[in-house]
Amino acid sequence: MQVETDFLIIGSGIAGLSFAIKAADLGTVAIVTKKEKKESNTNYAQGGVAAVVDEADRFEYHVNDTITCGAGLCREDVVRHVVTDAPERIKELIKWGVEFTRSGSDSPTAYDLGREGGHSKRRVLHAGDITGHEIERALINKAVSNKNVTIYENFFAIDLIMKSKVLGREAGEKNQCLGAYVFDERDNEVYTFRSKFVLLATGGAGKVYLITTNPDIATGDGIAMAYRAGADIANMEFIQFHPTCLYHPEAKAFLISEAVRGEGAVLKLKNGFTFMEKYHPMESLAPRDVVAKAIDTELKKSGDEYVLLDISHKSKDFLTKRFPNIYNKCLEYGTDMSKEPIPVVPATHYICGGVVTNLSGETNIDRLFACGEVACTGLHGANRLASNSLLEGVVFAHRSFVRMSELFNEAEDESVVFIPSWDTGEAIESDESIVVSHNWDEIRRCMWNYVGIVRSDKRLERAKRRIGLINREIDEYYRNFIISRDLLELRNIATVAGLIIRCAILRKESRGLHYNIDYPEKDDKNWLKDTVINKSM
Ligand code: FAD
Ligand code: SIN
Repeated sequence: MQVETDFLIIGSGIAGLSFAIKAADLGTVAIVTKKEKKESNTNYAQGGVAAVVDEADRFEYHVNDTITCGAGLCREDVVRHVVTDAPERIKELIKWGVEFTRSGSDSPTAYDLGREGGHSKRRVLHAGDITGHEIERALINKAVSNKNVTIYENFFAIDLIMKSKVLGREAGEKNQCLGAYVFDERDNEVYTFRSKFVLLATGGAGKVYLITTNPDIATGDGIAMAYRAGADIANMEFIQFHPTCLYHPEAKAFLISEAVRGEGAVLKLKNGFTFMEKYHPMESLAPRDVVAKAIDTELKKSGDEYVLLDISHKSKDFLTKRFPNIYNKCLEYGTDMSKEPIPVVPATHYICGGVVTNLSGETNIDRLFACGEVACTGLHGANRLASNSLLEGVVFAHRSFVRMSELFNEAEDESVVFIPSWDTGEAIESDESIVVSHNWDEIRRCMWNYVGIVRSDKRLERAKRRIGLINREIDEYYRNFIISRDLLELRNIATVAGLIIRCAILRKESRGLHYNIDYPEKDDKNWLKDTVINKSM
């Protein structure tokens, strides 16, 4: 089957949907999304969206907080653009129907502002503690009401279609993206989507690690696809571990928002002693890298399985109003947060690296754009400031739209280029799916144990050998057997694991989210730069 469209968007989180709403004014839009349309990291976001909307706040403060958190690697021009564009994008979200929690004052434009780690001011707009769910709801409603937008659910993008593969490429000529091969899981059929422009909005890669706050969709597909297509990938070593996930064998790393610490929750050891004062002047509200590493250190020292997050000094009335979702979830797992502290542990949460783009969302491949968590724009540097991610998604969706509008009419017509249909070759049905499930588990454990919060040269080399072996095994398996979503995702997490390890080995220092005990200090002389890699290196 063939689908022709002006814009192919891969992913239906905040980045993909907010771009789609705009692009539909220019032409036809196809969104492919690998599960139900709302299933995305966006849908689970709790804390909110950071933006300077309060009179007591300043752009300069938000810029400084972002740059401080980014530990020397933020691109200042990008930070300034995102921060100053934020209020406009927030107005747009509100116009599209997002209902942020109001402050309770009489003014219709006064919103309640939360505070999170690394922020010097209250500046996080939120919808209770289910901000992402509210954003998804509103954006999906808005997108589906436009006749130019078609959403294909349970359509899994396998690979980008590159002009060089179809026609060959002259030396020095820039490669171009013509669309993507997409697997329709329901009918077991691979579609050819041909488009003028492709936007990768596939989100993050938390599932590369054993314990993660991310939902199952977060398998780094966009990064893996872009890498295979020849895109530049950067800063993959900067994996953000969220310090506070509910510790419970059945809770599957449920996030306890940093906004809880923003409202006064304090981290304690199991014996009741506080410890963050030893690590940072902002104590429990220090940036995430500091808090996650401090908890990791304390747990290793004490041998305990978790630390405690205590907000029991706040009333039940306040907690059930401000954090209804978190309150109920904790209660479901046996903790009444108004009476006792919550047991918490760190978990993989966010990937700061990804597909390299410029300020307009353009990658090094013609007509291929990337925005949201899949991209590495220079905003986050070596560590993302809390609640800057939803913001980045919506700002870069806008930037990408502006750039594609400029290119839209002059883009050469490539519809005459013949694109071959997907070829299954000699592949047969697998009777060995145990290989797939075993490798899933092995990759995730290996990354958790050897490429976690604290790294060393020896651990990274060990991970490199193991993941290298698994990658070779998967390649062979992929060629011989008929595809399934499980296999496609496995291939992608294995690729992304390899990229994280490569970048981590390259960086011979400790900075932001990358801590290597063999190089415990920051080395500004040699490493004030990104780790950029691609397939040809
Ligand atoms: P996503 O929202 O993850 O969307 C990706 C989309 O791509 C999905 O629809 C997925 O199905 C689709 N997709 C992926 N691969 C394929 C494929 N191969 N084929 C087809 N479709 C594909 N950030 C904040 O700023 N504030 C917060 O409060 C906050 N809280 C968070 C809480 C949690 C629990 C988590 C997990 C993250 C949180 N984050 C927060 C981070 C933030 O939610 C994400 O970084 C952001 O939502 C990413 O948006 P996105 O549009 O780039 O990707
Ligand atoms: C949280 O609510 O703690 C998550 C915020 C974020 O990841 O930006």
